[in-house]
Amino acid sequence: MYQYNQRDQTLIEERVRQFRGQTERFLNGELDPDQFRALRLMNGLYIQTHAPMLRVAVPYGLLSSRQLRKLASVARDYDRGYCHFTTRQNVQYNWPELSRVPDLLAELATVQMHAIQTSGNCLRNTTSDHLAGICRDEIEDPRPYCELIRQWTTLHPEFAYLPRKFKIAVSGAGHDRAAVQFHDIGVYLIKNEQGETGFRILAGGGLGRTPIIGQTVKGFLEKKHLLSYLEAIVRIYNLFGRRDNKYKARIKILVKETGLEKFTAMVEEEWLRIRDSLVLGDERIEEIKAQFAPPPYRDFTGDDTGFSTKQAEDGRFAKWVKHNTVEHKIPGYRGVYVSLKAPDSPPGDITSEQLDALAELADRFSFGEIRSTHRQNLVLADVEQASLYQLWRQLDALKLATPNIGTVTDMICCPGLDFCSLANAGSIGVAKEINEALDDIDYIHDIGDLKINMSGCMNGCAHQSVGHIGILGVDKHGEEWYQITLGGSSENDAAIGERLGPAIAKAQITAAITTILDVYLQLRQENEAFLQTVYRVGLEPFKAKVYANH
Ligand code: HEM
Ligand code: SF4
Repeated sequence: MYQYNQRDQTLIEERVRQFRGQTERFLNGELDPDQFRALRLMNGLYIQTHAPMLRVAVPYGLLSSRQLRKLASVARDYDRGYCHFTTRQNVQYNWPELSRVPDLLAELATVQMHAIQTSGNCLRNTTSDHLAGICRDEIEDPRPYCELIRQWTTLHPEFAYLPRKFKIAVSGAGHDRAAVQFHDIGVYLIKNEQGETGFRILAGGGLGRTPIIGQTVKGFLEKKHLLSYLEAIVRIYNLFGRRDNKYKARIKILVKETGLEKFTAMVEEEWLRIRDSLVLGDERIEEIKAQFAPPPYRDFTGDDTGFSTKQAEDGRFAKWVKHNTVEHKIPGYRGVYVSLKAPDSPPGDITSEQLDALAELADRFSFGEIRSTHRQNLVLADVEQASLYQLWRQLDALKLATPNIGTVTDMICCPGLDFCSLANAGSIGVAKEINEALDDIDYIHDIGDLKINMSGCMNGCAHQSVGHIGILGVDKHGEEWYQITLGGSSENDAAIGERLGPAIAKAQITAAITTILDVYLQLRQENEAFLQTVYRVGLEPFKAKVYANH
């Protein structure tokens, strides 16, 4: 993985020093809350319901075991013994004490981690496919390009105060696992008719209160122009994005109001002007690629009969292999999902003990690296098939082997009312209640691929509008109610869910979800996934049952 150079390291250490001074001045009363607000947001620090919340950047979701251990010790020493993985592959701490945040950041800096540009109206962490480099359907590993984008965006002086936050995602595979079409800029690695690899660039996607699917602004972009093209888009946005209205400030509104054709023409004009001054040379690309060179895989020949025997002997293991591991491009290896969706813990949360133990497992079984996913799970990417049984037993003991990846209990969920000051309704409690209602793993497996996403307000941090089932918390006269949508998807077939009907009271939401599942099971045709059934039969049959007693 990418290793900081001296310049990177100096930069984050300098920033910790600056922030220490700023925090001290605020605590002494020399800075008022407004002055401090701008400074703390530049360092990933929000003020939430109970305490500050610190968002730590995890570039494209890649972590070393050393970094995991540091996340664990920080959770133990500065927080309440756990942290939270978000949909943008970052980590959040919910309980740090403000006066100690500079020390916390100094600790993170020792393992090349920081919180710069994780909040505020700037270029945020670039996200990517958690199976990058190991999946079979990949054109090229997207992470070197993410890293190049990271270096270009970090402290980019022109883009420190954009009209609104700005998010970029890159995928190199046929299967989109990074919700690319719902980013301000989405980048797909593609091959053109001549067989050359380049990029398709999308702009104007986003979620929140107005979810919009990104549109293609450049069908094929040569690799050497990646940064200049991104710069042209962000510059046009910076110049013309609406600063007068916070709710219309994202690039998705600019693209929509300007029209794709005119927007693209403006970008092209700007790009032609700057194109030759920001060329990404082959050498530079190769230099970064070298940092993502494949680990020293072993050569395996022939079938590993032990692996199939173990699966035949132990049904629980076989289920876990089926649901929580994926094919690897190298024979003899598999990618392993570490489920952060155990029935009794909030989605995406992980304790210090689990983090420490995982670091150990990453060292033993997966070249000392771990990745975080867009759906708030983790991945050990390079595990030898022959070690899977051993690994599973350990993950199981740590409660990190719930065999539910991609199923109805693998929910994405934001912190909601429990932590977030913007929330209208709770989400963690509802997730727990739904999990409890669906505690039969065979039933869950029978339902199959079904993604529930749940956010506590319109901001849509948990991507509810693109969940196969979306749940959105709304406030009705001071009470928690929930709006349901069906049919959303953030994968290749990107779609925004349709509203099922009026919002549902908290006491009825779990029953509504189980009713939806029942209707699906009754109506599905052979091998038909939930989304396909919804598209085939429409919302009516679901509506009729869910609102039968209203
Ligand atoms: C204190 C906690 C948080 C606060 C105050 C917060 C705030 C917000 C706000 C205001 C928006 C809407 C932005 C806009 O449309 O312009 C938003 C969107 C979003 N947030 Fe959060 N958020 C928080 C936690 C989280 C968490 C825990 C996650 C992941 C689980 C997350 C991921 C996202 C994503 C993916 C979006 C949608 C981006 C888009 O519109 O394309 N946030 N958040
Ligand atoms: S969706 Fe709303 S409630 Fe949930 S974390 Fe985002 S801002 Fe907070």
